[in-house]
Amino acid sequence: MSPQKQDRLITLEEFIIQGQNRFRGATGDLSQLLRDIGLAAKIISREVNKAGITNILGVAGSTNVQGEAVKKLDVFSNNQMLHALARSKIVSLVISEENEEMIRMQSSTGKYVVFMDPLDGSSNIDVNVSIGTIFGIYMRTSDNEDYPVDVDALQPGSQQVAAGYVLYGSSTIMVYTTGMGVNGFTLDPSIGEFFLSHSDIKIPEFGSFYSINEGNYSSWSPGLQKYIEYCKENDKSTSRPYTSRYIGSMVADVHRTLLKGGTFIYPESRTKPNGKLRLMYECNPMAFIIEQAGGMAIDKNGDRLMDREVKQIHQRSEVYLGSRENILACADFMKKYKSQKSGPSEKKLEEAFH
Ligand code: AHG
Ligand code: MN
Ligand code: MN
Repeated sequence: MSPQKQDRLITLEEFIIQGQNRFRGATGDLSQLLRDIGLAAKIISREVNKAGITNILGVAGSTNVQGEAVKKLDVFSNNQMLHALARSKIVSLVISEENEEMIRMQSSTGKYVVFMDPLDGSSNIDVNVSIGTIFGIYMRTSDNEDYPVDVDALQPGSQQVAAGYVLYGSSTIMVYTTGMGVNGFTLDPSIGEFFLSHSDIKIPEFGSFYSINEGNYSSWSPGLQKYIEYCKENDKSTSRPYTSRYIGSMVADVHRTLLKGGTFIYPESRTKPNGKLRLMYECNPMAFIIEQAGGMAIDKNGDRLMDREVKQIHQRSEVYLGSRENILACADFMKKYKSQKSGPSEKKLEEAFH
């Protein structure tokens, strides 16, 4: 790469410092925390990329709070993230998918609370499909206490000060927002640096991908069934060029949705009335990122997902997120169909959306 070109590459650290310098009076604490998470991501990425060799595959012999078989890489990733979050001494509380109880950190007066899914998409580890790490960062509200209390954890997603994910895929990319847009950094493993590769990401207003596990079709709400049927009546000659893409790793499915547009939906259903994904360390961090990129993230009533009341740190939630046009159309179907007894006629569908 020519020297001039090399000069234009910005590392994650440089970008974080530049961002911090834009804020007069910034303490640099959040910057330090993001850098520490970046370090954990590099270490996890190294393990993920050689998992097949170092026999780190397979089940760690335990189950997590969700009752799911815990894979060794889950445990490794959880430990690496916890080390990283302890380094800065500014995190007082961590809630992890891998730990039933909230983890009160040594730095009991630290001003940040962090939710995390240290390894998302675990079921895909053994078949070499992309997996990820998801995190959401909040300010403690109980700063008059010597240690964090429940109210610090039960904050709506709208209170996040930062959120991000790391995707361990064909390359390792870290995407995050601090409320001033979304940026992506790709890891150069040969030198262990993340470089700015996706600056100021904006999700397309409309996208042709819909991403949902259609194996659950029969237990969806009628409105969602109608919306997906509408997408599937795919006729390239009309303006509805929909294509289905579902990887089964939320980080990979959301990353594609962020870059290419369309929808990612994990809905409530008859068998999973609250959905499957966890509100605080899967849905809300992704909702923050998608909104910051100009998209939408809503619940089954069409309300903003990040306004959802938080009652339990591991609570599940439905999630409908993606491009504005697609999400509004989906919400329309769910509302329209709810009020009507039978599904809208084919004619009504055509009129409704053309
Ligand atoms: P995790 O591995 O952290 O438990 O998350 C798995 C989640 C998410 O990554 C993905 O979108 C979803 O499970 C897929 O669920 P289905 O297999 O039911 O479609
Ligand atoms: Mn997950
Ligand atoms: Mn997980």
